Amino acid sequence: MKKTLSLLALLALLIPTVMADEGMWIPMLLGKNQAAMQRAGMRITAQDIYDINNACLKDAIILFNQGCTGEFVSDQGLFLTNHHCGYSYITRYSTVEHDYLTHGFWAMSRDQEIPCQGLTATRLVRMEDVTNRVLSGISDKTPEEERERIVKQNITIITTEAVAGTHYKAIIKPFYYGNQYFMYVNEVFTDVRLVGAPPSNIGKFGGDTDNWMWPRHTGDFSMFRVYAGKDGKPADFSKDNVPYRPLKHLDISLKGVDEGDFTFVFGYPGTTQRYVTHDQMELQAIQENPIRIALRDIRLRHYKNAMELSPAQRLKYASKVASIANGWKKWQGETLGINRLDGVNQKKAQEAEFQAWADKRDEYKNVLREMTRAYERISPIEIEWVYFNEGVMASDLMTRANHLFRLANTQDADEARTMCDKMSANNEKFFSDFAEHTLVDRAIFVDAMLYTYRQGQASYIDQLRGKTPVEQYLGQVYDKSILTNAGKLLAMFKKYTPKQASTLLNDPAVKLFTTAYASTYTTDKEHIYDANKREINRLMRTYVRGMMQQYPDSNFFPDANLTLRVAYGHVEGFRPKDAVYYTPYSTLAGIMDKENPDIYDYVVEPKLKQLYKTKDYGRYANLRGEMPVAFIATNHTTGGNSGSPVLNADGQLIGINFDRCWEGTMSDLLFDPAYCRNISLDIRYCLFIIEKFAGAKHLVDEMTIVE
Ligand code: ARG
Ligand code: ASP
Repeated sequence: MKKTLSLLALLALLIPTVMADEGMWIPMLLGKNQAAMQRAGMRITAQDIYDINNACLKDAIILFNQGCTGEFVSDQGLFLTNHHCGYSYITRYSTVEHDYLTHGFWAMSRDQEIPCQGLTATRLVRMEDVTNRVLSGISDKTPEEERERIVKQNITIITTEAVAGTHYKAIIKPFYYGNQYFMYVNEVFTDVRLVGAPPSNIGKFGGDTDNWMWPRHTGDFSMFRVYAGKDGKPADFSKDNVPYRPLKHLDISLKGVDEGDFTFVFGYPGTTQRYVTHDQMELQAIQENPIRIALRDIRLRHYKNAMELSPAQRLKYASKVASIANGWKKWQGETLGINRLDGVNQKKAQEAEFQAWADKRDEYKNVLREMTRAYERISPIEIEWVYFNEGVMASDLMTRANHLFRLANTQDADEARTMCDKMSANNEKFFSDFAEHTLVDRAIFVDAMLYTYRQGQASYIDQLRGKTPVEQYLGQVYDKSILTNAGKLLAMFKKYTPKQASTLLNDPAVKLFTTAYASTYTTDKEHIYDANKREINRLMRTYVRGMMQQYPDSNFFPDANLTLRVAYGHVEGFRPKDAVYYTPYSTLAGIMDKENPDIYDYVVEPKLKQLYKTKDYGRYANLRGEMPVAFIATNHTTGGNSGSPVLNADGQLIGINFDRCWEGTMSDLLFDPAYCRNISLDIRYCLFIIEKFAGAKHLVDEMTIVE
């Protein structure tokens, strides 16, 4: 016993100190990291990165919609982001005649640029610590719900005041679970136009097979331009708008990087959970991920079988599969990584250390015990909801049953008519797009429901099936539902009035959906869940505050919350498994190695092959004469960092971040310098594609290139 304890204590000693290269730092407070960053090789200052009085690197960074990052590379508002970030716009403006997704798109002049409706580019003007004002009127005794109300009220007052008389928009976000609040004053541009995108077999080369993987060869970039009114201020689309002149755009270095070189990533990471207790880690990585993975296995297996039947089938399912597979693969890496690190026990050891410190402090001594109790109450509910969302809702049948259920609950005749017309159009499209789909969807429905049932998570089926065996019952639900009979369904929509609601509710699929929903989301469960989540919020706030007092000399980075951050590290390969070492950069030769004309993800454009054969790389080759494609580094990144600039020691652009290696995706919970790597596109490959492949040198000419 004594031995285990001292071992645990030893482990715990290592934990609170942030691991080398771990962390997503607040630009305004980067002064605290400056010495470490310079020791690691940086040659610029924290002030070059964030400065409230002068143009600085932060002025070149934008939040692309609400989920990716972009960076200005010219004084004409031109910016870079990932292909997968621009994907939905590239798709939206593609037609059969102009299939930009497949063949790429390059505006050869400004008037060819495509306005992207709804797309925003947000620039941070300044940030400010507003903790005191946000928390005014709140004491330790304020009940949590009351606290939430006051915080919200204060936030409205502060943000309104901050932007009064300006065109700026302000938001306030909690940090360290509400121990601190920062305000972000932003400028939101709404006229953003598509300028360029490589063909899919470059921008998405390797597809889902290579997603989250190293070695990687995806040319994952696209280009857009921000337009503004003549006064330089944000304006909605107008022909009269002019290219926005950013206060700062990034210099681009063609020198590239070598193993060991300092790099930093400047962008908008979405969510991390660095400080959660073992309760959350266990719930998420050990209990829930395997459920999610197993249920997605079912879906992916059936879709992939269908995709192999024909190119048309493949296209039909590609984007659906891409989004299902993205989480599926990430969670596998996450759980594997947590297990490899024995993460739950690491957390417990750290918590034991905290407890020893907290035992003498009333404010903190019960936090961890109460946390565990709150988690005991929410865990079974949350798990049930995971089964519902991933299992019951796996099929299109159930999503569509949900729509019918909503219709049946609409009493207003006009509203019901509008819904019917809309659903009718959607279903017509559904049936024509997915002619053979019912076969695939039926298999998914039956298998996913059966799996859920066998895990004891769909016992309501027993009330519905009577004496019919489960599998047979599920088959009947599918075959008898009006949702699987296009003719009947469309005829029903034509004539439907709210009087027929009960017929709808009696449809076997709708009945199954409503029963499942009603038994999974009871008011009781929702109440328990909300109350305990609120309690967990309060406890996390207390726990994190406690840890910061316990280790006053540690620099704790706040969990990611889709605000601008700096992560720094260095270019480095890694050992994914025994006897294998991954070198840190990939080249065009690797694309040729992967080439397979029979596999969609590995088709190589003839033009690219030609350039490879003639080694026509211009100034973009590395010193070894190779064409670099991507590289990995130890920067701590997460979803939302996609499209972020990767900068060198001088603050020059050397790459575009687009992914992580799946062996290190536990970095959202636990960072391991041996395994956690971000994946970036080498800027030289990006420029090579623009100039040599696409012949759009005029775009490169706009940029500031440092050779
Ligand atoms: N894994 C990357 C991220 O999480 C890229 C996803 C898009 N690519 C794909 N093949 N699904 O966003
Ligand atoms: N691919 C992710 C993104 O789109 C980045 C990551 O999770 O590392 O933001």
